[in-house]
Formats: sequence, structure tokens, C-alpha cells
Amino acid sequence: MTLPQDDIDRIMAVMEQAFPPEYGEAWNRRQVSDALLLGNCRYGLIAADGSMQLEETSESAGFFMSRSVLDEEELLLFAISPKYRRKGLGHRLLAQFIATAKAAGMQRVFLEMRKDNPAAFLYASHGFREVGLRPGYYRTPGGGRIDAISQELTLDN
Ligand SMILES: CC(C)(COP(=O)(O)OP(=O)(O)OC[C@H]1O[C@@H](n2cnc3c(N)ncnc32)[C@H](O)[C@@H]1OP(=O)(O)O)[C@@H](O)C(=O)NCCC(=O)NCCS
Repeated sequence: MTLPQDDIDRIMAVMEQAFPPEYGEAWNRRQVSDALLLGNCRYGLIAADGSMQLEETSESAGFFMSRSVLDEEELLLFAISPKYRRKGLGHRLLAQFIATAKAAGMQRVFLEMRKDNPAAFLYASHGFREVGLRPGYYRTPGGGRIDAISQELTLDN
């Protein structure tokens, strides 16, 4: 299978800026390529103007990556570059992710996130609800621990 290297470049450009380095949440290029080669992972890109169809030469403002198993899809990575934040692109990209999961016949989507991440507001506004907690799952830069929260959205098909 041929991987779209241009799109991997675009994903990596966002990845390198979007995730706070101290939590180790960003993936490296190899991890992204390997996941996409598996066949059950997919991704979506969003342009700065909110379009999901990027011009050949344009950069991506954000991306998602997800993995499906049977009728469940896990949102593995979701990010908007810092310079494009708070303009509604996160809302738009999440809506697109949910719509494509639904179109693919998924019954449930889920994700795991740091407890203090403001992205929780975004997920809640799209109907996700908290279904689990892993105490102390993430390490903080100061040697502390932060809980991980599992969120789930049931899709009506
Ligand atoms: C989370 C993230 C994708 C949001 O992207 P965005 O384009 O800024 O999102 P939007 O402009 O569409 O805003 C979505 C909602 O998220 C919430 N939100 C986003 N950033 C926030 C912040 N810094 N503080 C409080 N709420 C915030 C708000 O509820 C906002 O809705 P509102 O503007 O209508 O109030 C972006 O901040 C990001 O890439 N963060 C780093 C990566 C990450 O943590 N991803 C999630 C992993 S689980």
C-alpha cells in the first residue's frame, strides 16, 4: 500500500506544534505511518478556511487520526495548530469525524484524554460523556500524575 506522504507531512507539521511536549502525547512519523499501514486507521485534515479538501500545496490547520475495531472507533489523535485555535475549526473537524464514523456504520466512538484538557468542553458539546477514569495515568513535568478520562459517544445509525 502507498501512503500519502504529503498528508503525513501535513499531519506531522501540526503534531509538532499542537501537543505540549511535556506530556509525551505526540506521535512520531514512524508511529503515524505504521498505524496508517494497518488498514483500520484513518485520518482527516482540515484547512485554515474550514475546508476538508485541501489544495495540493496548502498546509493543514489540524487533523484527526482514528482506529476502528468492528463497530467501534477510537479517536487516537485530534489537534488544531496553535495559530488556528478558537476559530471553530476543532468543532468542525470533530463534527466531520463523527459524521464519517457514522457513515462507516460505527455504533460507538470513544477517546481518552488528560483530565485537565480544555478539549473536554469541545467533546461534551458534541455529546460525549465520561465513562471511565484511570487515576494517575499521565505523568506531569513536575513528576506528578494526572488522571485519564475515557469519553464515549453512542451513534444512532
Ligand atoms: C482541543 C483543540 C483541538 C481545540 O481546537 P480549536 O480549533 O481551538 O477548537 P474550537 O475553536 O472549535 O473550540 C472548541 C471548543 O473547545 C473548547 N476550548 C478549546 N480550547 C479551549 C481553551 N483553551 N480553554 C477553554 N475551552 C477551550 C471550547 O469549549 C470551544 O468552544 P467555544 O469556542 O464554542 O467555547 C486544540 O486546542 C488542540 O489542538 N489542543 C492540543 C491537542 C489536544 O489536546 N487535543 C485533544 C486531545 S484529547
